[in-house]
This record gives sequence, C-alpha cells and structure tokens, in this order.
Amino acid sequence: MPGKSTLSKALAVAFAVLTVSAIGGMISMMIVFEIQTNNLTMTELPTVPSTTLAPPPVMRLPRSLIPERYEILLHPQFYSRIVEEVNVTTPNQTLFFNGSSTVYFRCHQATKHIFLHSFELSVSPPEVIDRDNNKKLSVLSHQQHDDESDFLEIEMEENLKTNGNYSLSLSFDGEISEYLQALYVSKYTETDLDFVNDTIQERFLVATNLEPTSARRLFPCFDEPDMKAVFQLTVIHRRGTEALSNTRQQRSSSIDEEWKYTQFFPTPKMSSYLLALTISEFKFTTSPENRVTIKTYARPEAIDAGHTRYAAEITAEILKFYEEHFDLQYGMEDLAQIALPDLEPLAMENWGLITYQEGALLYEEGVSSWLHKEVITTVIAHELAHQWFGNQVTMKWWNEIWLNEGFATYMSYLAVDHAEPKFQIKEKMIMDDLHAAFEEDALLTSHPLSAPPNDVQTTGEILGMFDAISYSKGAMVLRMLAEYVKDKAFDDGIREYLKTHRGGNADQEDLWVFIQNARNKESKPTVQEFMENWTTQIGYPVVTINTISGSINQKHFLYNSSAVSNLLWKIPITYTTNISEPNDFWLGERERDGMDELISKKGEWILVNINTTGYYRVNYNVENWDRLLWQLETNPSRIPLMNRAQLVDDAFNLARAKQVDVTLALKSTRFLRSETAYLPWESAIRNLEYFILMFDRSEVYGPMQLYLRHQVEELYNFFKNQTDYSTVPDDHSLQHNQITAIEVACSNGLPDCVEMATEKFAEWMDRNDTNTIHTNLRSVIYCQAVAAGDKKEWEFAWEKFLNSTDTSEKDQLRKALSCTKKTWLLNRYLSYTLDPDKIRLMDVTSTVNHIAQNAAGQALAWNFIRAHWDYVSQGDAASLVMGVTRRFSTPFELQELIRFRDNTEMNGAYRATLQAIEQTQVNIQWVQENHDAVLEWFERETANLE
Ligand SMILES: *[C@@H]1O[C@H](CO)[C@@H](O)[C@H](O)[C@H]1NC(C)=O
Ligand SMILES: *[C@@H]1O[C@H](CO)[C@@H](O)[C@H](O)[C@H]1NC(C)=O
Ligand SMILES: *[C@@H]1O[C@H](CO)[C@@H](O)[C@H](O)[C@H]1NC(C)=O
Ligand SMILES: *[C@@H]1O[C@H](CO)[C@@H](O)[C@H](O)[C@H]1NC(C)=O
Ligand SMILES: *[C@@H]1O[C@H](CO)[C@@H](O)[C@H](O)[C@H]1NC(C)=O
Ligand SMILES: [Zn+2]
Repeated sequence: MPGKSTLSKALAVAFAVLTVSAIGGMISMMIVFEIQTNNLTMTELPTVPSTTLAPPPVMRLPRSLIPERYEILLHPQFYSRIVEEVNVTTPNQTLFFNGSSTVYFRCHQATKHIFLHSFELSVSPPEVIDRDNNKKLSVLSHQQHDDESDFLEIEMEENLKTNGNYSLSLSFDGEISEYLQALYVSKYTETDLDFVNDTIQERFLVATNLEPTSARRLFPCFDEPDMKAVFQLTVIHRRGTEALSNTRQQRSSSIDEEWKYTQFFPTPKMSSYLLALTISEFKFTTSPENRVTIKTYARPEAIDAGHTRYAAEITAEILKFYEEHFDLQYGMEDLAQIALPDLEPLAMENWGLITYQEGALLYEEGVSSWLHKEVITTVIAHELAHQWFGNQVTMKWWNEIWLNEGFATYMSYLAVDHAEPKFQIKEKMIMDDLHAAFEEDALLTSHPLSAPPNDVQTTGEILGMFDAISYSKGAMVLRMLAEYVKDKAFDDGIREYLKTHRGGNADQEDLWVFIQNARNKESKPTVQEFMENWTTQIGYPVVTINTISGSINQKHFLYNSSAVSNLLWKIPITYTTNISEPNDFWLGERERDGMDELISKKGEWILVNINTTGYYRVNYNVENWDRLLWQLETNPSRIPLMNRAQLVDDAFNLARAKQVDVTLALKSTRFLRSETAYLPWESAIRNLEYFILMFDRSEVYGPMQLYLRHQVEELYNFFKNQTDYSTVPDDHSLQHNQITAIEVACSNGLPDCVEMATEKFAEWMDRNDTNTIHTNLRSVIYCQAVAAGDKKEWEFAWEKFLNSTDTSEKDQLRKALSCTKKTWLLNRYLSYTLDPDKIRLMDVTSTVNHIAQNAAGQALAWNFIRAHWDYVSQGDAASLVMGVTRRFSTPFELQELIRFRDNTEMNGAYRATLQAIEQTQVNIQWVQENHDAVLEWFERETANLE
C-alpha cells in the first residue's frame, strides 16, 4: 500500500509531535540496518536499494509528445449521506466513478505511438484528432502495458507529424478507493440535529491524493512532473454536496433532482500530481482580509465549534510572509484548505486546495494542548512553502524531490518564526530535523539527496525518496549553504531562481547558478563546488580534532564500525574557544596537521561547528572533551544552546559507533543537573532511552534511576516554583521541558512529582466533570497518576476513555491506561484489546505496544501477541513485533523469537521478525560489552546520594 510509505512525507513534521519516548524507539530500529549491510564495503554499495525484479525496458515517457491542456469530466457515484426512508430502498453506495477527457498535445518528434499513463482504469477506444485540420485519425490499437510502467500505448496507422497539434479523447471508469489512494472515500459521523432526537449519522466524502503517481488512476494522462499542462475540470456530484478543486468555480448548475455539475476555471500550467478534488458537505471559515481569498474547510460541527479559527488566522499571516519573502505572488486568486477525516500523509500541498489530516489543522480551545499550535503552524508553513517550491517551480524528476521537500522544510523555520515569534521554536525544529537526518544518514542504506535518475524509476522507488533524507537532510544542507553565502545572497538567489523558473521545472544545478550569481561571483569555493558532494554522496562526515597536536581530519560517519568508506566533503569548519573569538576555515582534504590555531593553551577548550550550522558531527581528543564537559558543568551558558544539545548527541552516537567510550556519553549528561533549557534535555533523554530499555530489568536500573532522579530534581523544582504545575510557562520551549521534567521525575520516582500527579488526578476524580489539569500536562499526568495508582485510578480513566468523544483525549487516556504497574490490570487491559467495542482494531497495535513499553507489561504483551496472533496481527503486525521486542537482550529471548519466526503464520511481520532477531543479537552484544562499565559508572556517580 503506497500510503504507508507516503506517511514518511510528514516525517519531518511528525517528528515535532513525537514524544521523547517515541523518538527513542527509532534508535533501536536503526541499529538493525547496520547488520544487514555488515559485509558491504562502500565500493560495492548500490546507491539506492531497489527491487531485484528486472525493470521494464523503458519506464519514462518518451518526449516526442508534450501535453498542453486537459479537459476532464469526472462523475463519482457516491452518496454523502444514506437516509433510510420507509418506502425507499436504501441507496446503492456503489463507489464507482466514470469520466471522459481530452488532452491537447504537440508532437515534437514524428511517431506512430502515443504513450501515456493509466492505472486500474478501463478505457474506451480513443479518438485522435489532428487539430491543424480537424481530421479524425485512424487508431490501430490501444493497449495497457502489464508492467510497472503503467503505460497506455496507442498505435496510430500513420505518423503524427513533428510540430503538429493533436488531441486525444477517451472515456474511462474506475473505482473509488477505500484505501486513501487516488480518488478515495472517507467516512465520518455527525450529530444530526434535524431528527427529533440527536442521532449520530454516518457521512461520506471523496477526496484525491495524487502525489506522486496516482493521477493516472483518476484519468489517463502524461503523469510526470515536468509534463506540465493546464487542467480544466468539470465534476458531476450530488446536489447538497460541494465540489472543490485547485481553482475557483466557473459555473455550476443542477442537472436533475439528484445531480448537479460544477466546472472549475482552468488551472495554471502545473504538474499532474498537484491536481485535487474533494466532494463533501463541509463548511468553511474565511481568513482575515488578504490579497488572496482563503477558506478553511472542515466538518460542519468543527466549523461551528470554531476549530478552524486558528488555522484560518495563521494561514493568512504565513501566506503574506512568503509573498514578501519570495517577492513573488502565490499564483492563484483563491486558496482552500480542507481538514479531512482520513488522509495519508499528514498533508498534501495541491496548488490551491491543500489537504490536511484533521489533527494538522483543527485546534480545540480548552481541549488541545497549547503545544499543538506548533504542529498546526509548522504543517501549514510547510505546505504553503510548496506553493512556490514544488507548485510554481518543480523538480525535473522525482530523484530530486529534495528540492521540494528540503526547501519546504527549511522555509517553514523562517515562516513559523515570523508568524509565531513567541513560540521560539526555530532551534527546536532545526534540532529535530538534524537528528532525524543524522540517524538515517549514518547507515549504509542511505541515499544521496540527489539520487541518480535511473535509480528512481518505479512508483516504489519514487515513494522511497520521501524520507528523512529528502526532508530533513535537504533542509540542513540548505541551512548550511545559507550560512556560508549569507542570508542575503541566499534569499536573492532563490528569488531569481523562482522568478526565472516559475511555471517550469528546475534541477539543483540551476539553483547553484542563481545563488552563486547573487554573491560576489568570483567567491570561492563556488556554490557548485561546495554543495556537490553534500548532495550527490550519501552520508556525512565526523570531523575529529586533536587540540594537542593541532590536527584535524574527516571521515564518513557510519554506525557500522567495520565499514570502509573513502568519501570526502568540503567542510566549512567554524570554531570558538573560551578565550578567543569565533573563526573558520575549509577542510576539503582528509587530514591536516600542525594547525597552530587548533592547539589549545592551558585551560582552553575548543568547540567546533558553532550552532551546528554544518551538517557534520565532531569528535575531540579526550582532554578537550573533558574541558568541554567541565565547562558544561560549571557554566553551561558559555556554550551555545544548540551545541549543548549536540555535544550530548555526538557523544552518544560516537559511542554507538565505537569511536568514544560509553562512559564519555554518560558523562555528557552530568551538566543537566543545572540545565533548564529543553534542547539539551531532549537530546539526553532521547539518547538514554536505549539504556533504559536495555537495563530497566537489571541491577543497573536502581543506580540509573537514582542518578536520573538526582539530575532532574532541580529542573522539577524550577517548574514547581514557577508554575506549581497548575499553569505553564510562557516560553514554548520551557513548556516542552516542563513535560520532560514531570516525565523524568515521576518515572524515576521523585516523591514530590508522584504526589503532585496523584493529587491532580484525584481532584479530577472527585469533581468528575471538571478537569482542571492544564491541557499541556494532561497526557503526562494521566500516565504518571495511573502508574502510581491502583484499581480506582485505572477504572476512572477507563470510564473516561469509554465516554469521551474527543479523539485526542481518548488517545491520551488509552496511553495512560498502559502505565499502571499492576500486572493484573495490564493483563485485563490486554484482553480488552480483543473486543472491538472496547478497543478499535486500528488501535490494537499501538495499545499493545504502549503496554510493552512498560517494563511491567513487556513479558505479558509478548505472551499475549503469541497467544492471540491471528487477531492482533490484523493490525500493523510488523510494528507490533518491533514494539513488543524492543527490550529483548537475552539469549533466552532470542530463542523465543526464533521459535516464533519458525512456528507462526507471519501476516506481513516476517521481515520485522528478522529485524527483531538481528536487533536482539545487537542488543545482547551491546549489553555484554557495556553492562559493567555502565553499572560501575552509575554506581560511582550515585555513591554519595541517599
Ligand atoms: C409508503 O407507501 C405506502 C403505499 O405505497 C403509502 O400509503 C405511504 O404513504 C408511504 N409512506 C411514506 C412515508 O411515503
Ligand atoms: C449496486 O450497484 C452495483 C453496480 O451498479 C451492482 O453491481 C450491485 O448489484 C448493486 N447492489 C444493490 C444492492 O443493488
Ligand atoms: C426519541 O427518543 C425517545 C426516548 O428515548 C424515543 O421514545 C423515541 O422513539 C425517539 N424518537 C426517534 C424519532 O428516534
Ligand atoms: C568529492 O568527493 C570525492 C570523493 O568522495 C573527492 O575525490 C572530491 O575531491 C570531492 N570534491 C570536492 C569538491 O570536495
Ligand atoms: C548562534 O546562535 C545564537 C542564537 O540563535 C546567536 O545569537 C549567535 O549569534 C549564533 N552564533 C554565531 C557565531 O552565529
Ligand atoms: Zn512537503
């Protein structure tokens, strides 16, 4: 199902939503890939892992025919509501659509064969007309290629002539998907006030999601991003529904009692993947006055309750910001945004009709966490940036999707910072992307930002490009470039790039030229020279300096310590010390020796990569590490915030790659005791998650908890004094850290915290209908109160879960229920997941995984999924196996896993089970190698406590 891979499109953004513990889960996932590629050396490395099936001879359309304009008529057969009336038989919800289209095209090279894309459509015999003399031409055959090309090939009796103008008309029908692909149906419920009693009614809508290759499932077309054309769409739909598409309605009228049609204005020239259509009963909110008319659509109930208000306001701000920043107008008169009950990915940037998951657009005052506004603003900023990067200027081919996604991600930092300066989340967004990219790009299975076009041919290969590399590394490399050429040259360069290529397609070489031209043209290295290896090679370097000898070198950073790689980068080195001003130089070679400026004087530390603007890790000689860590412990503010977080992240990841000792990583968390900023804490907790999973059932856990309790105590009290945990701080990054403080303090047993959570929850239980817990803190307090509580707390949360209709409240409670320490409650909760009236099937996987995340539920969950595999594996079986086995680190657990693999019908979890087996082997080895050192370190650190 392509939807699954497209989910990663939202990764960059979704990352912002993940909780600390969820992010930690990725660490162990990543280790898996190491093993699979263990015996590869760089020279044997395929650039992009592709299927072993031989691809069809030609996957790309020939360039002999170029489309100019489409006229499309679509008629989806569905009812938005099914009203049962006494004498009328229930309407037949057939979920078919039919339509017809004419494409006008020009012939650039004489040919008898017309190739275009079509998939899962039945197509009538086509009619081809020579537009220069209006003669109908004779068609010999039309046939659908039965391979991954999705070609529809039409053979003509005679050649189409060079420079001739032609049209091709056909009609077609297909099925409306129920799996969120192409044209799909989505279902939701609504309270129907027309009835005597309020009744919950089912409602239906249809929507499209066509990126990257699903336009061909809607109508036959030249479905490649540089085959831009004008689209004019007419839709026949039920009366009582509204059809939306990229452009404004041109005309609309009834056809009969049941049907009407709506015709839209022709679009600007654009790529086929950007076409969009929705048909629904939704209502809208209009944004404040703007040059462009902005409407935000959602379920009528959500509109009436004001849930679209925040999105409507912020969209207007951000659109205005981009128009000024790019000095180029958004290319349409109208902008519609719609919150869909079902959509994968998180959002899709269709020009003029942006689609969103409800959670990415709707904000419920008084129910949603304040921090949820960050998600909404970030997603909107990302999608609006695409209206320029992607919609007006498009990459030539999918191998450079980073030009869309990297730019949209990078631009969203600026837009969010502009629209909501008080959030102060620019640094957080950057760190999230930096870590997402670093993690994925340290594997041999990574791919270059700009992959060779031949490696990106099939739909599967194209979908594979929508990952953290294209999104997050893309944004990081752009940030590094902007830092080097300075913002002004960068901004001027992209303005010219956008103006020049508007309506067309470009590749990265075009971009480099414009940015180079915007600087002093003679400046060296040129943008091209600088960028080349960052975008055409996989991975990134670790720079190591030695402050005693004054040497510096670079090396491809890989988790797999036995892999060999000779890659080199042109690295902008910036550095500062505690006694001198920042400075910089280029490192293009592998190694340089005897650099006096890198030799530290007595007591001097050197810090490389100021503000982490370079996309590389840094390692130091032990003496310099010690001085840096000492600085962190004595006066951390001397080291820039982002570097405080990065020093921790580098130390842990260098330890994972066996380039530093594991105790150095642990030492890098000492300074947290007096740290109140979020980023260093987030970095440490994310990295420590793996240690917790490996050791929370062993003797290491006692001293480790004692250490963490000690570390977090001041942070916990800092917020207690400021807010008493009844309110939240103004600063958003402190709001994030307040949640971290509760999570770390309570889960490591700080009595004050446990008491606070218990009391707040008890107050809710007493008052029942009034919940005074701040919306930001609900999730963490529910969990910690249930963890500290007993049957009473659990049953209360369960009642609330059953009776709540609010999705985010339900999710928080469902998670909280898994936090109890009582095994009998966990066991009963597990059994509830077998009853779809209690836990919906779509929620089974995450519920069981939550339970397995709890050390008390780990073994129960593992037994449970084996006993009820037939039922539970109907969900996301792969994720279930990965989730339930995350702690596995003993030979006994390995044996059980192997037995599971051999005795079970896998239902799509086979690959995940193999990965879990390999991960368990990695874990066993890691625990063996590190157990003693880690135990000893924590014991020594805590020797004088308690
Ligand atoms: C249903 O049909 C019967 C006979 O055909 C008619 O008498 C009755 O009025 C109809 N009821 C409604 C609600 O239309
Ligand atoms: C609904 O319509 C489809 C297609 O026209 C047809 O195959 C099916 O039998 C119909 N079902 C009912 C219950 O009328
Ligand atoms: C409305 O509710 C009442 C009491 O629950 C019930 O008797 C009645 O049949 C309901 N009416 C409709 C139209 O559902
Ligand atoms: C790019 O990398 C290759 C090897 O990885 C190296 O030989 C070449 O010098 C590098 N180019 C630049 C401009 O740094
Ligand atoms: C690093 O970032 C901080 C905060 O964003 C900024 O004030 C400072 O000037 C930056 N330092 C350098 C050398 O760019
Ligand atoms: Zn995007």
